[in-house]
Amino acid sequence: MSKKDTVTQLVKLIADGQFHSGEALGNQLGISRAAIGKHIHSLTELGLDIFKVVGKGYKLSRPLTLLDVDQITAELTSNASLEVLSVIDSTNQYIKGRIEHISSGFTCLAEAQTAGRGRHGRAWISPFGASLYLSTYWRFADGYQAAAGLSLAVGVALASALKQFAGVDIALKWPNDVYLDGKKLAGVLIEVEGQFGAACDCVIGIGLNVNLPTDIADIGQPFTDLSHAVDEPINRNTLSAYLINELIDTLKKFERSGLVEFVEQWRQLDFYANKAIKLISGDHTITGIGRGISDNGGLRVESDGAIKTYYGGEISVRAAD
Ligand code: BTN
Repeated sequence: MSKKDTVTQLVKLIADGQFHSGEALGNQLGISRAAIGKHIHSLTELGLDIFKVVGKGYKLSRPLTLLDVDQITAELTSNASLEVLSVIDSTNQYIKGRIEHISSGFTCLAEAQTAGRGRHGRAWISPFGASLYLSTYWRFADGYQAAAGLSLAVGVALASALKQFAGVDIALKWPNDVYLDGKKLAGVLIEVEGQFGAACDCVIGIGLNVNLPTDIADIGQPFTDLSHAVDEPINRNTLSAYLINELIDTLKKFERSGLVEFVEQWRQLDFYANKAIKLISGDHTITGIGRGISDNGGLRVESDGAIKTYYGGEISVRAAD
């Protein structure tokens, strides 16, 4: 068995949240106790909260339902193909490496990412089993222009999926950050490849916090997870299916008619509507009042009595001090 498969099997064995001795685990996987100790160590480095009690063995701090390709597929409403990975650098990167072999709708999920990517070149901390790390591929035959505004439509898809899944109401921060009770719940990173005039390949990456460990590193802004809004244990397989179903429907609609079908919904969810904000782009900061989005997805900001519309992936928006 490869190291990767051994680690996957080990997680399955301890997923029940009970104590397992190193010896029993070693016997089940056909490796030594010392090797088990090393694999457990690498799992804790990936963010799994495992502790050890002398005489009893290893235990996960809480039981974990692992992602399961069959369970998710059974709840999908489209025939999009799906792959579930254990540990990967980045699900976006995984898709980018396979674009020639996949078709629109191909989706992959991972339990952990070692080099998860966020917007503005930031890292996306991706502890094992704590969240959803999902990427979907879509090819727009009409090229770049056909994908403009897509990130806003994806934000709306996330809002609809969370509402259907657990009645959770979220807000959107332009262009597509998902906020719950004023804190970041999810983020979207869309990576686009293509040349002007030719078809364009889009990788839509979503990171949705579900059950984050308490000791997560400071990520520079307030964040939360879905467990704060849902009383029952969250089944990440069902949640993934809701998300994929909504995303694929959104991508089909978007391909047909663009942003127009999503603009009103986005406006209803606008976190910064009529609030004091600052727009930061490199060294440049503009302050003003958020005045919603334009019909083509730009951010409208009122400053010195005039409203201007801003576009561009490099801008980040924050509450003004
Ligand atoms: C953001 O900065 O708000 C965007 C975060 C996007 C994270 C997701 S997790 C799945 C996919 N793979 C990545 O490497 N990044 C995206």
